[in-house]
Amino acid sequence: MAFTPRVFSGIQPSGDLHLGNYLGAIRRFVPLQDTHDCIYCVVDMHAITVWQDPDDLRRATREVAAAFIAAGVDPKRSIIFNQSQIVQHAELAWVFNCIARMGWMSRMTQFKDKAGKNSENVSLGLFAYPSLMAADILLYKATHVPVGDDQKQHLELTRDIAAKFNNDYAASIAKEGFEPDFFPITEPLIAGPATRIMSLRDGTKKMSKSDPSDQSRISLLDDADTIAKKIKRATTDPEPLPETVEGLKGRAEADNLVGIYAALSDKTKADVIAEYGGKGWGTFKPALAELAVAVLAPIASEMRRLIDDTTAIDAVLRDGAERGSVIAEATMKDVRRIVGFIR
Ligand code: TYM
Repeated sequence: MAFTPRVFSGIQPSGDLHLGNYLGAIRRFVPLQDTHDCIYCVVDMHAITVWQDPDDLRRATREVAAAFIAAGVDPKRSIIFNQSQIVQHAELAWVFNCIARMGWMSRMTQFKDKAGKNSENVSLGLFAYPSLMAADILLYKATHVPVGDDQKQHLELTRDIAAKFNNDYAASIAKEGFEPDFFPITEPLIAGPATRIMSLRDGTKKMSKSDPSDQSRISLLDDADTIAKKIKRATTDPEPLPETVEGLKGRAEADNLVGIYAALSDKTKADVIAEYGGKGWGTFKPALAELAVAVLAPIASEMRRLIDDTTAIDAVLRDGAERGSVIAEATMKDVRRIVGFIR
């Protein structure tokens, strides 16, 4: 069956958004609006898999929505909402909890990283996290999911859940008169020079909301001065930039900064090397700082303006939820019939 090309992606409202979230995900959401129906979700139910102060959660939820809009997601063309407003996410996640196998979930590296040695004491929600993520995507029968590289394994699990649902319920799907591939096998969109932005302090670690060092990341709400300082202080090796892209191999910090420059200017790493190959950090870092400020400062100022108007942001989220729930309920109606739930 041909599914309508539809994009879904989600961002957790936990901590401050950073350059990795922007380049790996949010910036890439914008052009997809020209070719696909797009649904962009603030996944507040995912956020509470680890403790969130309720006031912080509300603030961060509005901040993510503001970032979507400030970056160029159009709330009229696309659907923007927070996950908890559409209860069908939880309902489908439960069905998927009964499809996914313990073994599949136990292999999730993000769970293992987050739980660490403390796995007896983390929430059950954290373990079931990827099943709710599959529900987010498949509730809308999304065909494409733009994300950073760290979400790859979760998307493979989403495909496994879709395939197992289609297979386990094949007889019922046929009996109820649906196409055999009831859920699509979703394509991850993980591409470009910024699928994995690294920490500015340590080129072997991912830029992340949870890194204790604020110097490791550029936050979307950092002011121009802070952005420039963080880039100028970023850890690098002493060598000048290589003359070829291949020369970036084994030079994690250089590769990261070139990738950031490329993503911010919609170029390839090869384009950036063509311009800056052989130049030293004293030339490249100020150029990168200037570019980053030129791109990020207008987004930050628009975000601040939007965040101050909570009534307007909440209205966007409510409107998105109303539109999204029409699609979500249509899918759940069919799922209930397929599974055998009486209504
Ligand atoms: P989250 O909130 O951790 O991150 C949001 C998006 O930012 C990307 N990202 C990065 N990209 C490049 N470099 C980095 N250093 C970096 N850090 C984060 C993430 O890959 C992601 O695209 N599980 C998801 C949220 C989610 C979701 C979904 C995504 C829930 N349901 C359905 C897609 C579809 C997460 O925790 O993202």
